[in-house]
Amino acid sequence: MNKNETQQKQGIFISIEGPDGAGKTTVLERLLPRLEELYPAGLVTTREPGGVAIAEKIREVILDVNHTAMDSKTELLLYIAARRQHLVERVLPNLQAGKMVLVDRFIDSSVAYQGAGRGLSIDHIKWLNSYATDGLEPDLTLLLDIESEEGLRRIEANKDREVNRLDLEKIDMHQRVRQGYLELAEENPDRIKIVDASQDLEAVVEDAFNLIKAVLEEKES
Ligand code: TYD
Repeated sequence: MNKNETQQKQGIFISIEGPDGAGKTTVLERLLPRLEELYPAGLVTTREPGGVAIAEKIREVILDVNHTAMDSKTELLLYIAARRQHLVERVLPNLQAGKMVLVDRFIDSSVAYQGAGRGLSIDHIKWLNSYATDGLEPDLTLLLDIESEEGLRRIEANKDREVNRLDLEKIDMHQRVRQGYLELAEENPDRIKIVDASQDLEAVVEDAFNLIKAVLEEKES
């Protein structure tokens, strides 16, 4: 897969980002029926790390609560390896087929979690990601923003959700992640749109839907 191929995308690529507990998964589920109507060419929803068999295996290694010895750079490189495989096997073929691809987390998660959260060099993270994705950027990134305390409270209240290694981090890591996201949004105002995820679910879904609709209209004009 070379740079030209990754740039020949025809569909729409949307990433959903946010700190843990922001509600990405629920919002995505609620958006789907409305998006199916809005975009009849077809939708694909997927997630990182994972989404395809090889990347799901890498996910198990990264998120295993027993892997407390994992080094931050190892963690970063595993996320990026999973991202590359998922991009090649799932994202690009669907974009080339004209689909709308909605991915739960993408490059901004590396910058927010491994950069702002773990303190690794943001320049290196951006370079490594750009290498792994051949510079592909989403047409739109929805950042579901929530105060860290409220995000953690929601995680604790949701007993059905699997608890992963990153959920077990202390509150200050979660606060740095949130700050990292807000800085990214400031740097990329055209691509990253903030949605206030502290509102009730209907309002969050409505805001997210309107932002996606606006990008579609812009692409069509
Ligand atoms: P997941 O169970 O998908 O969490 P969520 O439902 O909150 O999205 O686990 C993904 C975890 O991995 C989450 O804590 C964020 C983290 N992560 C990174 O630290 N870096 C990355 O590049 C990605 C994609 C995820």
